[in-house]
Amino acid sequence: MKKLVVLTGAGVSAESGIQTFRDSDGLWEGHDVMQVASPEGWQKNPALVLDFYNQRRKNLLSVKPNKAHKTLAALEAHFEVVIITQNIDNLHELGGSTNVLHLHGELLKIRGVEHPNHIYDSDPQNPDILLGDLCPNGSQLRPHIVWFGEAVPMIEPAIEVVETADLFMVVGTSLVVYPAAGLVEYTPKNTPKFIIDKSVPYVSPQQNLYFYEGKATEMLPQVAEELISKYKN
Ligand code: OAD
Repeated sequence: MKKLVVLTGAGVSAESGIQTFRDSDGLWEGHDVMQVASPEGWQKNPALVLDFYNQRRKNLLSVKPNKAHKTLAALEAHFEVVIITQNIDNLHELGGSTNVLHLHGELLKIRGVEHPNHIYDSDPQNPDILLGDLCPNGSQLRPHIVWFGEAVPMIEPAIEVVETADLFMVVGTSLVVYPAAGLVEYTPKNTPKFIIDKSVPYVSPQQNLYFYEGKATEMLPQVAEELISKYKN
């Protein structure tokens, strides 16, 4: 089976009802992104940050994977699919994808501020994190999310995956946040690259680059058919 690597961003979950970042003037669900997604914001007002992610976690219960997530999952019948997502939701997994690498963390995971390598599932019965809630090692719990200015530990495994892609797809990301945006540059030269977006982002000119402008739920099924007919072994 050929290896299909897919980099996704907020646009893939937009039609499930989760707001994208840059379509909303720097506000994220009504908040200044730097207040709720940076170490400085956390230092200043940890209760606000916890509350913000508690709300996002609750919101996840009311959203469902859309046709784009499901189409990517169905491609596993034809390709070895690896999804690298910048999204912190779990919609790829709920849509049926079995190999998902989360670059920017996961809403349903938690860790202690001083023990970043010990990551836990949040409790489905009692998912909120409050000030004073401690990890088993004794430090304040926080969401397992990469904030602005923090390291992106999953970028190394992501690069390794991209370097071995037979086919590469990008869906619903503005490609402005690094290091994620730089992944495109690691694809082998001859690997066909398919960029799907409502408003296609800039990608430096290179061989085998194909753009599909439109909504993920509409374009992905078309591109999937094309991949199956042209590239399946
Ligand atoms: P952005 O909000 O920057 O970009 C969303 C992209 O999705 C844009 O290119 C839109 O045109 C596109 N889009 C919107 N609706 C769409 C639809 N229905 N179908 C297809 N495309 C659609 O989101 P990301 O690129 O994911 O990081 O943002 C990257 C990172 O910036 C996020 O992971 C987050 C944020 O700050 C962290 O939290 C660390």
